[in-house]
This record gives sequence, C-alpha cells and structure tokens, in this order.
Amino acid sequence: MINKLQTNLLNWFDLNQRLLPWRKTKDPYSIWLCEIIMQQTRVDQGLKYWEKFLNEFPTLKSLSESEESRVLALWSGLGYYSRARNIHKAAKIISNDLRGEFPKSSLKLIKIPGIGPYTAAAISSICFDEVIPAIDGNAFRVYTRLFAIDSPIEKKKTINKINELSLPLISRKRPGDSNQAIMDIGSSICYPKKPKCNYCPFEENCLSRKYGNQEKYPVKTKPAKLKEVNKFYVILNRKGYLGLVERPKNGIWGGLWMPLELDPENWDLAIKNNQIHKNNISYQKHLLSHRKMNLYFADWTTDKAPENKNIKWFSIEELKNMALPAPMIKFLREKSYI
Ligand code: ADE
Repeated sequence: MINKLQTNLLNWFDLNQRLLPWRKTKDPYSIWLCEIIMQQTRVDQGLKYWEKFLNEFPTLKSLSESEESRVLALWSGLGYYSRARNIHKAAKIISNDLRGEFPKSSLKLIKIPGIGPYTAAAISSICFDEVIPAIDGNAFRVYTRLFAIDSPIEKKKTINKINELSLPLISRKRPGDSNQAIMDIGSSICYPKKPKCNYCPFEENCLSRKYGNQEKYPVKTKPAKLKEVNKFYVILNRKGYLGLVERPKNGIWGGLWMPLELDPENWDLAIKNNQIHKNNISYQKHLLSHRKMNLYFADWTTDKAPENKNIKWFSIEELKNMALPAPMIKFLREKSYI
C-alpha cells in the first residue's frame, strides 16, 4: 500500500508537475538559493528574485566575494533580512572553508548558517539523491491530512511522527522528485481551505478525505493573542535628502535604514507643533509571527538638521540602491519618492 503511494505520487508528478526553471538543474548552489528564497515568498515572485541573484552572482565564488550590502539590496522587499545575511555568510564559509564544495548530506548541510531541517533535506534530496522527506509548511499540511495526524504542529513528537510516516513515500531512485511532488500537491491541490481532493494522487488513501475533515489539519494549539505595538516614524526631508537611522544589528530590520522613530509623546508634540500633519500620516499593518505592529509614517520637512548624530542623509537615487525594510519601501512608493 505504501509503495503504491510512492508510485502514484511520482506518476502524478510526471504528468502534472509545475515547469519551474530550477527543476532543470541539480546544481546545489542554484537549488540552495532557490530554497532559501522560496521560504520567504510565493513561487511567482520568488522566481524573479532567484533570477536576479543568479544573474548578479552566477557562481558561489562570486557571491562569496560580494559585499554584504549588495546581497541585502538584492534581497530588498523579501523581509527577514537575517536570511540574506546568512546567504552571504554561508557562501563565504563554503567557498573559503569547504573549498567551494557544498556538503552532500543533510546532516552536514544543516551546519551551514541559514540552512534548517527543511532546506537541508530539500537540497540533499534534489541534488544528491538522499532519501529524506523535506517538510515545510505545505508538506506538513499534506502529510498531517494523509495520515490524520492530530497532535499539534508545535510539538516535537508531531514532526518526528511525520518524518517517520512520510519516509516510505520518498522514492529511493528519485527522492528529490518525491519531495517536489509533495510541494506541488501542497500548493496546487491540498489548499488550506477547500482542497481539490479529486485531483490528488492520494485521494483513495487519504485518511482525512475518508472522514471528510481535511480542514481540521494541521492541528494547532490555540494561538496566543498577538501582542500589539505601535511605532511612529518621521521621514525627515531636507532639500530632497531624506534623513534615516541605521537599525541596531539585532532585532527587526537589523542593520537596515529606517526613518527616525519617535516615542508617542514626541509624536503628539510634533503634531501639535504642526511639524507633521495629521491628515498626512500613513498607516501600515505589519504582522510578524508573534506580534502585530501598527506602523505610522509621516513626512517632516525641515531646514535645519535635528540634533541626532545617528541620522544620515540620502538622496533618492542612493535610496534606490539600498536595502530598505518592506514597509519603508511601501511608504516611499506611496508618497512617490521612488
Ligand atoms: N517551494 C520551495 N521549494 C520548491 C521547489 N523546489 N519547487 C517548488 N516549490 C518550492
């Protein structure tokens, strides 16, 4: 029965797989970049980033010799910039310490910065034929439904169980294709809501389908209510130059340039003094896994430099080539700065 699942899966893949450019290669450098980028965004958008990266850095060596700021700039708009920093760090380590050779097993890959269990399994199965399931969010949903695993996603034993039950589905001859088939099922059939089970190669065998409770999976423990925080930013504009402050290395947007942050009292004061205008404030909701951020941005046109040694002034042209946090880019677009 399990072998039938394995065969059904690959037969389905051969007929229905998405034609994605990285599926034409087994080059670990290209696959690694792809997997890191795809964790951050949807395939259609990720594809553009992947091509941008490979165009500018066709080889691991070229990436390892680049400036971190250039990698951050290419990553711009994807969020979670620690991923971009890790790409740069990893390229240096593989290039300098491992003589340019990617480790060939998931156990070794996982030691590289930015490579977790999913990415390690994806790279090793696709590039080096290691027989190991690669379990990201989509695969998690597919497998918990298929096997009706109802222990919550946060528990270590749940992931162990999925690893154990899914392993026999991974073909010894084509492990990378087995994993990529699951990814395709996850993104084009096994939707979180209203899955299209009659297109699924597992239709006959899926336990949640049998009981008609697909949407119950994956089971999550009740999420804690998101903590809400308000943040206030002023975009200082001095004769067309914008004043920005570098964020501390650790924490959100670490090392990137953001507008000056005001505390609520100074924000209110600036409104009262007509330095910023109430009807000109733009709002963005920014959701993180553990927090809801309410971001408020306002222009502040000023002739004299505020007394803050951390502020640096940038022309619009300079801004276009910098790594900026996604909400900042959105604000600049909204106000037609860029
Ligand atoms: N998402 C992440 N990795 C992928 C891959 N190799 N193919 C399709 N979608 C993906």
